[in-house]
Amino acid sequence: MSDKSVKMEMPGGAHDFPVIDGTVGPQVIDIRKLYSETGMFTFDPGYTSTASCQSAITYIDGEQGILLHRGYPIDQLAQHSTFMEVCYLLLHGELPAAQKLHDFTYTISRHTMLHEQLATFYRGFRRDAHPMAIMCGVVGALSAFYHDSTDITDPEQRMIASHRLIAKMPTIAASAHKYSIGQPFMYPDNSLSYTGNFLRMTFGVPAEPYEVNPIIERAMRRIFILHADHEQNASTSTVRLAGSSGANPFACIAAGIACLWGPAHGGANEAALNMLREIGTTKRIPEYIARAKDKDDPFRLMGFGHRVYKNFDPRAKVMKATADEVLKELNITDPVLDVAKELEHIALNDPYFIDKKLYPNVDFYSGVILNAIGFPTEMFTALFALARTVGWVAQWNEMISDPEQKIGRPRQLYTGATQRDYVPVSKR
Ligand code: CMC
Repeated sequence: MSDKSVKMEMPGGAHDFPVIDGTVGPQVIDIRKLYSETGMFTFDPGYTSTASCQSAITYIDGEQGILLHRGYPIDQLAQHSTFMEVCYLLLHGELPAAQKLHDFTYTISRHTMLHEQLATFYRGFRRDAHPMAIMCGVVGALSAFYHDSTDITDPEQRMIASHRLIAKMPTIAASAHKYSIGQPFMYPDNSLSYTGNFLRMTFGVPAEPYEVNPIIERAMRRIFILHADHEQNASTSTVRLAGSSGANPFACIAAGIACLWGPAHGGANEAALNMLREIGTTKRIPEYIARAKDKDDPFRLMGFGHRVYKNFDPRAKVMKATADEVLKELNITDPVLDVAKELEHIALNDPYFIDKKLYPNVDFYSGVILNAIGFPTEMFTALFALARTVGWVAQWNEMISDPEQKIGRPRQLYTGATQRDYVPVSKR
């Protein structure tokens, strides 16, 4: 806490509000007493200037293109870490020593199976259900299967629920894919890495052995690490808001998945690839660039722009390098890639995109890699949800442990009708 304050001139006099320092990044004005002292609210739709909580998990500097998890730069984690190590770091605040990492990895591997009755639950969905619809439903349903980890006042139960969510998400996502193509569900193989196991459950079949391709495994590990957490984004804020009422963790994560689904958020990776396919050939790019610039056309270049990053998205840098590596090593040629490369080149040199600081974001490149690996487009956002689960549970745990935590309850600027008397239907 700094001893600084700001003075606000308001109708009826001046008021002082404390200024609070973080360890790094902008200071905040503590306006918690604003309403009680002045009778006024602040107005900030989209929360562009509002810190909704304090958090020690992830730091982003959008101007400099910096992303740190517990202080560690994302490119170093993507380069050197395993996904299990990043999960531990996000959940517990420190990189684990060897024994702790081993124990954590073992614990996660003991929770990878789903309650067998959940297989019946899947069968209630249409075969053409979107995997994100299945994820919302199945993850929400976990609260009906794992009663022994829904008491949020017990830190041990909170941690068990967190482990279960991280461990089961690959099984849930892979099963959603298997269900859509009519293949049998694959049970997890705990001898494989987190990513290797997920690849086998997605692409393997019970009739044959499945060999994990190390190039694809490494790319998936990076994709998971790059998506693991991202501070108070829309889905994480949704998880926190749902959790602030005391809802159980499975219900909260299901709410996060629902929010992530939208094309302005996690759904952008699917939307970006669909857009590249729709463009189809490099010749049509100018037409789409023109549409993106046209104020009267709601079309946006999917995979471009970010609320916080106004210089570059540091995740996109690593993702682009990974995309280049995967495509080269797997020797893949795909017309969609030519469109992606040319679109990136044109947009990065176009004054509209330069002036508005619109750069390709993480989802632009992740879609390209996932497509090359062979994931159907509908699975892209489900993979994002899988990877982001650790961030959601870390943020949820942090919130529940915060002694200052209150139910999230924004206020509003009311613009509707003032009080009026009911009119019977015969007189309307
Ligand atoms: N294509 C064309 N114009 C754009 C785009 C785009 N992708 N993104 C923003 N703009 C324009 C927008 O029209 C506006 O112009 P003006 O100032 O003339 O009205 C200006 O740039 C600022 O846009 P905004 O909507 O006020 O910015 P925002 O911070 O509210 O939105 C965003 C950020 C990510 C929702 C937006 O850039 C977008 O819709 N991008 C496409 C979807 C996407 O790729 N989302 C993934 C984000 S990264 C992963 C994640 O967070 O899940």
